Amino acid sequence: MTTPPVCDYEGSDYQKSFWDEGGRAYEDKAEEIALKRLLPKSGKLMLEIGAGAGRNTPRYKGYERVVLLDYSRTQLQQAQERLGESGDYIYVAADAYKLPFVDGLFDGATMIRTLHHMQDAPAALKQVRRVLQPAGAFILEYANKLNLKAILRYALGKQDWSPFTPEQVEFVALNFDFHPKTVRQWLDECDFDLQRQLTLSHFRIGILKRLFPAQFLAKLDALAQLTGDWWQLTPSVFTLNIARGESKIAAAGSFFQCPQCGTPLEDTPEILVCSKCGAKYAVRNGIYDFREPLA
Ligand SMILES: C[S@@+](CC[C@H](N)C(=O)[O-])C[C@H]1O[C@@H](n2cnc3c(N)ncnc32)[C@H](O)[C@@H]1O
Repeated sequence: MTTPPVCDYEGSDYQKSFWDEGGRAYEDKAEEIALKRLLPKSGKLMLEIGAGAGRNTPRYKGYERVVLLDYSRTQLQQAQERLGESGDYIYVAADAYKLPFVDGLFDGATMIRTLHHMQDAPAALKQVRRVLQPAGAFILEYANKLNLKAILRYALGKQDWSPFTPEQVEFVALNFDFHPKTVRQWLDECDFDLQRQLTLSHFRIGILKRLFPAQFLAKLDALAQLTGDWWQLTPSVFTLNIARGESKIAAAGSFFQCPQCGTPLEDTPEILVCSKCGAKYAVRNGIYDFREPLA
C-alpha cells in the first residue's frame, strides 16, 4: 500500500525550539484550556496521533492509558524522557496513514498540530475512525486557511492564494492549511458527528504577545474560543467529534495489527511477528516500531 509522504521530525528539537524557548506560552495555555473543555471526563484508552514530545499528553488525565503515536522515533524518545515508562503510556512509532491497531480499539483519540502535515487528510481521518469504537471521542485540531491575517494579506495583494476557496494550501512543503468547511465535510464523510468547535490563538500577534503576559492573553482567548461554533477566523481550530454509527469493538486482548496486511499481531516482547505475511516489528527501549518491518 503506498501512502503519502511524511513530514519527518526525526532528530528535530521542535519541543525545545518551538515551545520551551519559542515564546509560545500563550498558545500552549490556550490549548490547555480548549482540551479541558473538550475532553471527556474519563475514558479507558486514548490514542494521541502525532504526539511529538508529549506536550499535551499529561492533559489526558481522565484516561486510564494513553498510546503516544508518532512517526519520529526521536520525538517519542523525548516524550519518554518527559513522561517516563510507566504502563500508563505506550509509545508507538508508526505512520498515521497505516495505524498498527485493530479496529475499534480506542474510546478516545486526539490529533493536534498534526493534520497540517497530511497531504491526504481524509485518508488519515479514515484511519482514526477505523480504530475508534462507536461513540468514541475524537479531538481534532487543524490549521485554518480562513484566518483573519490570511484574509487581510489576500485583500492587500500580499498573498496569491485565496483563503475563501475550499482546497488546502501548502504554504511550505508538507505544511497545509485547510478550509473549515472542507474539514467538516471530511469529518462527516468519515462518520464523525461534529459536536463542538473552539477557535484558538485569536491574539497570536507579536506586539500583543510582547505587551501582555501569556496568562492574560490566554484568559481573553478562553472567552473568544466560545465563538467557535459561530465563525472560524483564527489560525487554529479545535473540534470535538463523536464516532457515528455501528462499527467494530476490538476483542478483549487484541491490540496491534500488522500495518502491511492488517492481520492481528500477538504482543510478544522484543519482536512482533505477523502470522500471515511474516513481517517482523521491533520493540526497542520501550518503543514499538511499526515504521517498517525488520529486514
Ligand atoms: C507539529 S508536531 C506536533 C506535536 C504535538 N502534537 C504537539 O502539539 O506538541 C507534528 C508531529 O506530527 C508527527 N507526524 C507528522 N506526520 C506524521 C505521520 N504521517 N504519522 C505519524 N506522525 C506524524 C511529527 O513527527 C511531529 O511529531
